[in-house]
Amino acid sequence: MAELNITRVDKIYHSRKGDVHAVKALDLAVKPGEIVALLGSSGCGKTSTLRMIAGFEEVSNGSITLGGKAIHTLPPAARGVAMAFEAYSLYPPLTIGENMSFALKSSRLPQAEQEKRVKDMAEMLEIADILNKYPSSVSGGQQQRASLGRALVRDAGLYLLDEPMGQLEPQLRAVLRGRIKHYLREHNCTTILVTHDQTEANALADRIAVMEGGILQQYATPAELKARPANLFTGTFIGEPPMNVFAADVSSAADRVSFTVEGGTTLSYPASDMSDALRQRLAQTPRISLGIRPHALHLGDGPVRGKVMACQWLGDQTHVAVDVAGRTVVSASQERVSRATGSDVSLNVAARDLHLFDHASGNAIAHGGTLA
Ligand SMILES: Nc1ncnc2c1ncn2[C@@H]1O[C@H](COP(=O)(O)OP(=O)(O)OP(=O)(O)O)[C@@H](O)[C@H]1O
Ligand SMILES: [Mg+2]
Repeated sequence: MAELNITRVDKIYHSRKGDVHAVKALDLAVKPGEIVALLGSSGCGKTSTLRMIAGFEEVSNGSITLGGKAIHTLPPAARGVAMAFEAYSLYPPLTIGENMSFALKSSRLPQAEQEKRVKDMAEMLEIADILNKYPSSVSGGQQQRASLGRALVRDAGLYLLDEPMGQLEPQLRAVLRGRIKHYLREHNCTTILVTHDQTEANALADRIAVMEGGILQQYATPAELKARPANLFTGTFIGEPPMNVFAADVSSAADRVSFTVEGGTTLSYPASDMSDALRQRLAQTPRISLGIRPHALHLGDGPVRGKVMACQWLGDQTHVAVDVAGRTVVSASQERVSRATGSDVSLNVAARDLHLFDHASGNAIAHGGTLA
């Protein structure tokens, strides 16, 4: 299995309506056997990135190496990369089984081994019953699994999976997610998986690359992304429900640090809850953006006061929407709590759960009392 290195890669599409700069100066390294998720909203450049690695789009700038060898100038078939496409791209005149074994035909694998691989893969993906059917006569979700299987049965240095389970219902997704992860690990597959779904990215990936507007925002483990978001974008993009964000004025005294948020509420903490370096930084930073995750904003005695707008039990957690000085904030709890709409509540948050961002740039200043 090979290491992938993407260095300063740009993708600029030229069209009559003007240029689209879809991927901007992308640096990304994937270790041998690592599973990486590319996560971002629609149009952020995920598919463009995969297509440049696979060779279906040229890079506008930069280089891509696999196992130390430059591949970005090679034709797709010479790159040793297997890709499952977002739009499946199965060959209509071939059956599902023939589609899945197509790329194995040119390998030196014995016929019996080829057949076994396709059969095992089809069983893993729950499409063994449609191997003799043609793509036009099966469902979108079945075509998608055939396309995924066609990529995974190959021996490749790198596997690129573009939204491989987007068409499947949640139950099947959850089952296949586990099986696919097991398969990728067992075969030590170096993999980049594109997804919109945070749960999928968290469950499958060793590291997640968060993209927005063609720019890599952060590349880190799922736990790091949650605990130490690099900027307001990843802070609010990762985590459900999304992080509550307030503009806040900072005031530092000898023994306390206080944040006065929009509407006048003041959150005050002993100075000892913040590192010396952070206190020095805050002394020079009068205004910040304060991020508090819903699961860290607890109902009970606290300085944040508001009125309950909605209280929802979701089966495994409660979300309470609270109007705080005209702004809606969300508090989430693992417990089943009930609060009447319109009732007064107060909320608190511990210093270790505060995320501080630069008010102008959105870049992280501190997480949990220490500098980012
Ligand atoms: N062939 C093309 N010509 C011109 N612009 C393109 C082309 N392909 C993609 N784009 C544009 O490049 C940007 C990135 O597109 P891309 O398909 O990489 O996004 P994506 O992250 O995969 O989105 P989605 O989640 O919707 O699949 C978009 O603005 C898109 O409109
Ligand atoms: Mg896409």
